[in-house]
Amino acid sequence: MDDLGDLRAKYLTAVNESADEASLEALRVAAVGKKGEVALKMRELGKMTPEERQVAGPALNALKDEINAALAAKKVALADAALNARLETEWLDVTLPARGRPAGTIHPISQVTEEVTAIFADMGFAVAEGPQIETDFYNFDALNIPPHHPARQEFDTFYMHRDEADERPPHVLRTHTSPVQIRAMEKTGAPIRVIAPGRVYRSDYDITHTPMFHQVEGLAIGKDISMANLKWVLEEFVRAFFEVENVELRFRASHFPFTEPSAEVDIQCSWDNGQLKVGEGDDWMEILGSGMVHPKVLEAAGVDPNEYQGFAFGVGIDRIAMLKYGIPDLRAFFDSDLRWLRHYGFSALDMPNIHGGLSK
Ligand code: DAH
Repeated sequence: MDDLGDLRAKYLTAVNESADEASLEALRVAAVGKKGEVALKMRELGKMTPEERQVAGPALNALKDEINAALAAKKVALADAALNARLETEWLDVTLPARGRPAGTIHPISQVTEEVTAIFADMGFAVAEGPQIETDFYNFDALNIPPHHPARQEFDTFYMHRDEADERPPHVLRTHTSPVQIRAMEKTGAPIRVIAPGRVYRSDYDITHTPMFHQVEGLAIGKDISMANLKWVLEEFVRAFFEVENVELRFRASHFPFTEPSAEVDIQCSWDNGQLKVGEGDDWMEILGSGMVHPKVLEAAGVDPNEYQGFAFGVGIDRIAMLKYGIPDLRAFFDSDLRWLRHYGFSALDMPNIHGGLSK
């Protein structure tokens, strides 16, 4: 059985030189498979004398084990080599310097909305929401602006197109956040304390007007909420928002269909070299509309005006953002110009809160 030595050398060399799993498998079948060379040799054992068999049997078994072990070892070695090759190509240099610029910033509108929400949350106001495509009942009628009321013309409303046969109620893009007052009162009744920030729409476009802009509505209804409470809440708000110790507010008599009495509110400010400063000097700047909610509005929302009363106000978010952060042109808010966003944007990691600071 000298040719066992040849067989051994042939297969061990072939296994060693094998470059992939498929050729290893072919070698296994050829050497130690059912019809492989070693198996053929084993068949010859039957023809041998017992003495010959005693030598040849163990030698063949040892050869079979040796080839199997070589195949297994080569298989592991090939897998290791494949993994190393892959790691080599997927290598990542984690010591490379990071990008120099933050990937994005918080838009001033989002920032100011968060600031306003934080201030009013501290005074017990929850956030309410309503649809931007609103029925003209909620946008006008329920707010004491019946059809043909002159105030409807003042709003430059976007009306939704309707086919003549369409019998659904007329819809508009909401012209203000005031309809959320009605929806919030319908939902939870009185007493209630909510703010409603959101997008509003009017057909208007110049340096201080865009067809889409933002307002925040405030509403507080209870058994004995008065104009004095309105004044305190707005003073607290303005002081916290503009981050100044003291600021005078001026309440000017005005008219809104949904409030009686109504007041427009101006803040004390100064203009030094074109630089606006809030809370000093003797100029005034109008920032919001407000008043005691009209009994008809309470009634339209299902609240009994003989039992409940309260105040409402509406502030332009974009407007107070421009004032606080010295942003001159409203239209730039919505141009998506990266240079503008990087200049006026806020860090994504600084959430405004009353105690930690609003805009720091
Ligand atoms: N809705 C008014 C507007 O868009 C703003 C406003 C004024 C809201 C007085 C109020 C309010 O809640 O009481 O011009």
